[in-house]
Amino acid sequence: MTPITFAIFITSLFWLNLSDAKIGYFWHITDLHYDPFHNSPEFHRGCKHNRANSEHNHRNGRHRDHTCDSSWPLIQSAVDFMAQRHPDTLEFVLWTGDILSSSMEHLSDEVRLEAVRNVTDILGRTFSSQFVFPALGHNDPPPSRKLVDMWMQWLPSDALQTFETGGYYTIEHSYSKLRIVVLNSVLWSGGATKTDVPHRGRAQWEWLEHVLSKARRKNEMVYLVAHSGPGVEERHNAGSSSASGGGELTPTANARLVHVVRAFSDVIAGQFYGHRHADTFRIIYSEGRPVSWALLAPSVTPRGAGSISNPGLRLYKFDTNNGKVLDYTQYYLDVTGKRGGELHWGVEYNLTQYYGLREVTAASLDGLAKKIRNSNDRTMLYKYLTALRVRHVTDFSDCDIACVHVHYCAITHADFHEFRSCVRNPASALASRAPNLSNAIISYAIIILCFSKRY
Ligand SMILES: *[C@@H]1O[C@H](CO)[C@@H](O)[C@H](O)[C@H]1NC(C)=O
Ligand SMILES: *[C@@H]1O[C@H](CO)[C@@H](O)[C@H](O)[C@H]1NC(C)=O
Repeated sequence: MTPITFAIFITSLFWLNLSDAKIGYFWHITDLHYDPFHNSPEFHRGCKHNRANSEHNHRNGRHRDHTCDSSWPLIQSAVDFMAQRHPDTLEFVLWTGDILSSSMEHLSDEVRLEAVRNVTDILGRTFSSQFVFPALGHNDPPPSRKLVDMWMQWLPSDALQTFETGGYYTIEHSYSKLRIVVLNSVLWSGGATKTDVPHRGRAQWEWLEHVLSKARRKNEMVYLVAHSGPGVEERHNAGSSSASGGGELTPTANARLVHVVRAFSDVIAGQFYGHRHADTFRIIYSEGRPVSWALLAPSVTPRGAGSISNPGLRLYKFDTNNGKVLDYTQYYLDVTGKRGGELHWGVEYNLTQYYGLREVTAASLDGLAKKIRNSNDRTMLYKYLTALRVRHVTDFSDCDIACVHVHYCAITHADFHEFRSCVRNPASALASRAPNLSNAIISYAIIILCFSKRY
């Protein structure tokens, strides 16, 4: 390289950096499941354990327990940690619901709203110069004037209007072509009992399609944000009904959301969900091509939904010009770790580095899913399973070929029917993509395995 070409090369690098990257950050926190009665022994509301256990928990201050929802000290420690890690360019906070412990379900609206207010207040104080965008989960109070009053500090008046009637809204991110669309997944989930829910659920579909069409016309990119997202709960295994209430989308709503994401994948820059208390992802395909991704953040509560995990907090890095997600850092708290009495949050991993991704796209995550499935090299599988439970579990020797396959199907088949046929038909799912000898051998092994299990 001559000095002059070198100079041009350096200049162009510099120019690219200046023009391309306008780096910003946002937090994604979810499933705090605050339990105000965590510390009153007579209640034991958020904790599911026996007496012997509970003595042990008291000794541990009880926020170090996977059978309990979040104590106030746990929430405080999470928020303090986020405040310390506060990047200068923090743009906003996504807060995807299940604010309250499910043990509060039968308490009065008054107590529940007071608990929501306390969490709102601490977030408001901590992020005093940012906007927090809340999404409702199935354990939260339904939209109301009182919630509007609490959250009007963060939402403009047109957002508050749709929020008050339906619990959903959209926000235009200032100075960029990014639009945040916050959905109320409760309206589309089987657990909803209120009689006007189907009507409001329909209204939300119409609104969503309208907002996405408009974003397309205006060349905006969209973040879809909600408590529950599309796809199955992989721990329900083999495609048993995964929509039996509890905040999961109904099969119809799930299919429709997958359809909408496919139809607007050119507009959707990313999907951000919580609910599962697990660190996982989903890929939506259109005609076999990966077209959209959904990243599911783990919960703040250490209490599991199905199985347990450590508390997590996630900090996203993105290009504020266009909303393109560049990376995230996953932070966590080792609940049962022997670090003394203090709650010690730390880095768990960085997405691109951990999985060796060059970028965060549907295609790169599709590549990752294939590596997770690879039975010749279990590195990525173990990394994925370690992250899934936020380092709570570290021994995966019992995850056999069938288990790996269920995980792979859950990541790559968001539609319930497609998931079930993927799980039922491991051989063809493997063979259909890259027919080569090793796949043929794996398929054969799976067939043998299935038969040996059945008999
Ligand atoms: C809310 O915070 C106040 C003030 O710290 C406290 O007295 C009250 O018990 C809290 N209530 C709930 C439900 O968290
Ligand atoms: C992970 O991300 C954080 C936050 O962006 C950064 O400070 C840190 O250097 C990254 N670590 C690695 C190993 O890339």
